[in-house]
Amino acid sequence: MTQKKKILSGSVYCECPSNIALVKYWGKYENQIPANPSLSMTLSRSVTKMKIDFIYQENLNEANIIFKFEGSDNKKFEEKLRGMISRLGDLLPAIQKCQLFIESENTFPHSAGIASSASSMAALAFNLYNINAEITNKFEDDQLRLRRISEIARLFSGSASRSVYGGWVSWGKIDDLTQTSDLFASPLNIEIHPVFRSLKDFILVVDKSEKLISSSAGHQLMKNHPFAEARYQMAKQNLNTLLRVLQTGDFEDFITVVENEALTLHGLMMQSVPGYFLMKPETLMILQHIRNFRERKKIPLCFTLDAGPNIHLLFSENVENEIEYLLKEISDLCSRIEVIKDGIGQGPVLKNKQQNG
Ligand code: PMV
Repeated sequence: MTQKKKILSGSVYCECPSNIALVKYWGKYENQIPANPSLSMTLSRSVTKMKIDFIYQENLNEANIIFKFEGSDNKKFEEKLRGMISRLGDLLPAIQKCQLFIESENTFPHSAGIASSASSMAALAFNLYNINAEITNKFEDDQLRLRRISEIARLFSGSASRSVYGGWVSWGKIDDLTQTSDLFASPLNIEIHPVFRSLKDFILVVDKSEKLISSSAGHQLMKNHPFAEARYQMAKQNLNTLLRVLQTGDFEDFITVVENEALTLHGLMMQSVPGYFLMKPETLMILQHIRNFRERKKIPLCFTLDAGPNIHLLFSENVENEIEYLLKEISDLCSRIEVIKDGIGQGPVLKNKQQNG
């Protein structure tokens, strides 16, 4: 731990990417402990940009929060943040004695199943951790710092724990991988095959409207789900297969596991009581078209879905030209589709702005 000058007011800034899970986290226990390990790739262009101005005030017992999203007040989310931050308690003690002015914006539509909670909650965790470190003058080494940030992000939103790192990331205890934990995410400590090092993810935005059932409600419905235990076992198996595939470069097996995970997630939602749909009719039509296109062109590409109607089209960099034909065919099928051309990314970018002692 290194010592620097104590800071009592200032400004922190973080750009934090979203991530897409290929083995899904769906179902949890108390304290955001996942029912199964998950594995994701961190994106590059789908990012939350968050700045927090802070003033430390010894006499405060609870953080005083003002929140603006994309330049406007957002009282609903401000209230949510207040609750989440107050529950942090002793984890970041100095935060409870701060005035926090939080400004956040996304480079992509929020609440449409492009894990905006992953990027925003990871950005929040980074910024709060840094404020606490400045005020208390406690600076930990990189590995420990990222682990703690991931742990804090997990408490805000499980999938956010993975957005703390770039590249391929797992969260949840995996028997064969040391340093994995249910408490925080870790970058995958294996040699990734070149085909998966620069994987592309084009997000086909079928519908931008806010989803009717939140992920929190979805996780709750796994509690009495008749297939819950089988699902958790299956996720572990899929994760082990994916770990092998990421090393060998076997795209056929990659497709099998990744598409199965996506359809299982939505299958679980449909079979919950009450059951619900997050896919739109266009989603199914496009998924079918992607499979037909793959069959015709014999190229390595597949789809995954998050908790929403939008489609993540995954493919290796060298087939990007062919993908343009696929996009053209998809826009002939559904003219309203927007495409976010994303891919695997390096992880968060931090900047500390002017600070006063
Ligand atoms: O992090 P939460 O509580 O929003 O849950 C996210 C769950 C999925 O996005 C559907 C899957 C995942 O692992 O990211």
